[in-house]
Amino acid sequence: MMINPTSRAVFGLRVNLSRCLKSIPRLPSRSYSQKVVPLTKETYPSTVRNQAFASLSSDDIGEFKKILSDKNVLTDASDLEFFNEDWMRKYRGESKCVLKPQTTEQVSQILKYCNEKQIAVVPQGGNTGLVGGSVPVFDEVILSLANMNKIRSFDNVSGIFKLDAGVILEIADQYLAEQGYIFPLDLGAKGSCHVGGNVACNAGGLRLLRYGSLHGSVLGLEVVLADGTIVDSMHSLRKDNTGYDTKQLFIGSEGTLGVITGVSILCPARPKFTNIAFLGLESYEAVQHCFTQAKNELGEILSAFEFMDEDSQDLARKFIKQTHPLEESYPFYVLIETSGSNKEHDDAKLETFLESSMENGIVCDGTVAQDEAQLKTLWYWREGVSEASTIGGGVYKYDVSIPLKDLYSLVEAARERLEEANLIGETDDFPVLRVIGYGHIGDGNLHLNVAVRRYTKEVEKCLEPFVYEWISEHHGSISAEHGLGFQKKNYIGYTKTENEIKVIKQLKNLYDPNGILNPYKYV
Ligand code: FAD
Ligand code: MLT
Ligand code: ZN
Repeated sequence: MMINPTSRAVFGLRVNLSRCLKSIPRLPSRSYSQKVVPLTKETYPSTVRNQAFASLSSDDIGEFKKILSDKNVLTDASDLEFFNEDWMRKYRGESKCVLKPQTTEQVSQILKYCNEKQIAVVPQGGNTGLVGGSVPVFDEVILSLANMNKIRSFDNVSGIFKLDAGVILEIADQYLAEQGYIFPLDLGAKGSCHVGGNVACNAGGLRLLRYGSLHGSVLGLEVVLADGTIVDSMHSLRKDNTGYDTKQLFIGSEGTLGVITGVSILCPARPKFTNIAFLGLESYEAVQHCFTQAKNELGEILSAFEFMDEDSQDLARKFIKQTHPLEESYPFYVLIETSGSNKEHDDAKLETFLESSMENGIVCDGTVAQDEAQLKTLWYWREGVSEASTIGGGVYKYDVSIPLKDLYSLVEAARERLEEANLIGETDDFPVLRVIGYGHIGDGNLHLNVAVRRYTKEVEKCLEPFVYEWISEHHGSISAEHGLGFQKKNYIGYTKTENEIKVIKQLKNLYDPNGILNPYKYV
């Protein structure tokens, strides 16, 4: 962003980022330590294998090889490791087989066979899910969409984009960038997650504030049901009121109702100019005032409003190992992104906003990106928190919606509870390293992360159901964007009513009467 030097002095904002600008990778990757992840069935022995499901035989493998080529049926233990373990290294299944179809027809044949034989199946995208939903609990077959990675069509008048479910989000967005468009979803795992996985989770991410939820932007889906039926609703219509909008059921169904093989999505024009401001604030109240002021003063150009607490940035400092954008520490930080089509207009608006928020004492300090590299760096201090949270060896993640006024109190309550239980401390004697809060505050979405040196039942029992009860008492949701998966399967009742859960079960029974799709998860 070009702010003239005189204005900078008025803001009191430092805009020189050179001290923290070595090249920082934008995409966190999954790092494997030597530590072996315990089997989920051992960590959670109360979940028992459903004996109605068949155990995989060599005949079954032979059938799969008839449907797919040999190379797309993985059975070697070393090949299976990645697919059996989740991103947090908290859950591990013992699947003996990964299937990698290349066409919708192959997915259909696989599911038809599995349904007839009662073989349980876990659909898997990029395996970046954060609730243990993407990996098997026992020996379910893993159906990976990784080889279904073709772009089907793009209409550069309407912005309607059709693609296979296994296309990696970042690749989809790069394709769109060349056409002057943008994918209406962005998140830290973009380099690994699939668009089908995003839809299956109804992922929210960093720009929901601007582009809304996938329930609005997805225009159609191609889905294969448990019995192999292909439901093609890859529509290109923004308006279509012919009866039930059935695709909505699959958005956020987390692989329990059908396998998404194709996505039709409405993509907006790519903004021409983007600014990022990274600000330091003294209190959570100031964060809320800052949000109100940003909405009022930045209006239509506000495209992201994210927050981080000091503990989250402290972990990020240890993880990123570079100089933080702000010299001093603050209890809270806010990242504001603006996107628009008229640089002078956008710059002027941001300047006015920064000036007034400094003058009225809401913002204490800040810095503004001057070019594309600085823009990425500032984003990384927010996006990198996700991976920084695993720095100790593990993390308990709670992704919640709470009315804004109470949102940060949950972090304080969890921290206090762990302190009282003497579970948190600076040395290895304590399982908990840090309790951090950050997230998409513009969407009322908090990420409460408890960074641990090891996963222990003591910590888990201290946090669960405490966290879920707290959320329920404060009229929130126990999942804002990551879903329920395995982690929250027993806690759905803290957010949904009995009758809502009944309807969910009825739908599951209707679409998947044998229950072969992603069993042992939330439904
Ligand atoms: P997977 O992890 O493979 O699967 C997730 C679930 O969807 C599983 O239940 C699986 O069975 C099902 N599934 C996957 N593909 C299909 C398919 N084709 N058909 C049917 N079911 C399927 N989430 C957010 O909402 N916002 C964020 O900001 C965000 N940031 C993240 C940052 C990092 C660093 C990481 C690791 C994760 C983040 N996530 C975030 C969580 C996660 O939801 C997303 O990464 C992504 O949406 C998951 O996509 P995936 O392809 O990896 O799905
Ligand atoms: C994010 O927004 O960074 C992720 O959804 C949060 C997480 O990793 O818990
Ligand atoms: Zn998030």
